[in-house]
Amino acid sequence: MSANTDSLFTATDINGVSLRNRLAVAPMTRVSADEDGTATETMARYYERFARGGFGLVVTEGIYTDKAFAQGYFHQPGITDEGQAQAWRPVVDAVHRHGTRFFAQLMHAGAISQGNRSRDATVGPSAVQPKGQQMEFYRGKGAYPMPAAMTEEQIADAVEGFAASAARALSAGFDGIEIHGANGYLIDQFLTDYANRRDDRWGGDTRRRTTLVRSVFEAVRARVGAAVPVGVRISQGKVNDFTHKWAGGDQDAEAIFGTLAEAGASYIHVTEHKVWEPAFDGGRDSLVALARRYAPHVPLIANGGVQDAARAQEVMAAGADIVALGKAALANPDFPNRIRAEQEVSAFDPAILGPIANIKPSELTA
Ligand SMILES: Cc1cc2nc3c(=O)[nH]c(=O)nc-3n(C[C@H](O)[C@H](O)[C@H](O)COP(=O)(O)O)c2cc1C
Repeated sequence: MSANTDSLFTATDINGVSLRNRLAVAPMTRVSADEDGTATETMARYYERFARGGFGLVVTEGIYTDKAFAQGYFHQPGITDEGQAQAWRPVVDAVHRHGTRFFAQLMHAGAISQGNRSRDATVGPSAVQPKGQQMEFYRGKGAYPMPAAMTEEQIADAVEGFAASAARALSAGFDGIEIHGANGYLIDQFLTDYANRRDDRWGGDTRRRTTLVRSVFEAVRARVGAAVPVGVRISQGKVNDFTHKWAGGDQDAEAIFGTLAEAGASYIHVTEHKVWEPAFDGGRDSLVALARRYAPHVPLIANGGVQDAARAQEVMAAGADIVALGKAALANPDFPNRIRAEQEVSAFDPAILGPIANIKPSELTA
C-alpha cells in the first residue's frame, strides 16, 4: 500500500459503531424496489458490491418513511411496515458479510414528490411552488405541483414516520440511521427561506426553521435509544435548485450545525457540488470547515465531487472524518480496494443512469 493513502484506511467509529476505514458510499436513489416499495434481490447484489469492494460504510438510498406523503419516486424502497422492513434484511446481511457498516437513510420527499402510490397531492411547509423540473430519470415530467401547507397533525405524522421507520430499520439489522435533511426534500424545505413561509413555531428565522430537523432528530433518538448512530445530512444545493446558497452565510451555518450539535447528532453529513470549495461567494471556508467550526466534536462525513484518493485526503485534512463517494463509487464499486492496490480508478459514465436511474444488469456483473 502506498504510504500516502494511509489516512483513508485508519479505523474510526460513529457513536461506538466501528468503521474499518474512512471511505463511505453516498446515498443514491436507484428506483429498483418493487412497485410496492419492497427491497429486492437486485438491490442486495448492488449494495453487496460496495461492501466487497472495501468501503467501510454504505448509506442506503433515501427510504420513504410513511404511507401518507413521504414517498418521492415510483419504485423507491420504503420502510413503512414490517413487510418492507424485513425485505431489507437480506440486503443488510449481504453488506455485513464483508465487514461493512450499513446506515439507512430516511427520507420524506415533501413538496418535490413526483411519484407516490398513496397520494396524488403533495405537501410542504408552505403552499409555494417548488423551483425546477421533475426528474425524468425517476419517471417524472414537467413542473412540480403546488403543495398544500402542512397542518400540525400532518407534521406530527411525518415526524412519527421517521421515528417508527428508524425502529423498523434497526429491526432489519441496520447499524445506524441517517435523517435526510438535504437536497430539497421535506426537512430541507423547512430549512429553506423561500420554501418555508410559516409564521408558527415551524418557521421564521434560520434557527426557527431548524425546528423540524430538531424534532425529527429528537423523535428518532427517543425511539432508538442513545447507543444507535443517528446522523443528519445537510446541503445548500437541492435537486430542484442546484446553486442555492444560505442567505445568512456563516450565521446560517452556525444556526444549522450548532442546532445539530446541541441536539446530540451522532454525525453530520455535508454535501456540496465540490465539497472542498468555499461555501459562499467571496468566502474562504468550505461547508466542511464550517461544520467543523460550529459542531466541533461531531463526526463529519463529507461528500461531493471527490473522485480520487488525493482529493479525499484533502477533504479529510479540512476537517472531515469520513469521505462519501457517489458517482465515483458507481464507477468503482471497489474504490477502496483499488486505492489500496494502487490501481487506476475508472471515470463515471452517466449512461449508467439513463434513461431510468435503476440498477442495470451490467452493474451486477462488472
Ligand atoms: C443517481 C443518484 C441518486 C441520488 N440519490 C440520493 C439520495 O437518495 N439521497 C441523498 O441524500 N443523495 C442522493 N444523491 C446525491 C449523492 O449522495 C451525492 O451527494 C452526489 O452524487 C454528489 O456526490 P458525488 O460527486 O460523489 O457523486 C444521489 C445522486 C445520484 C447520482
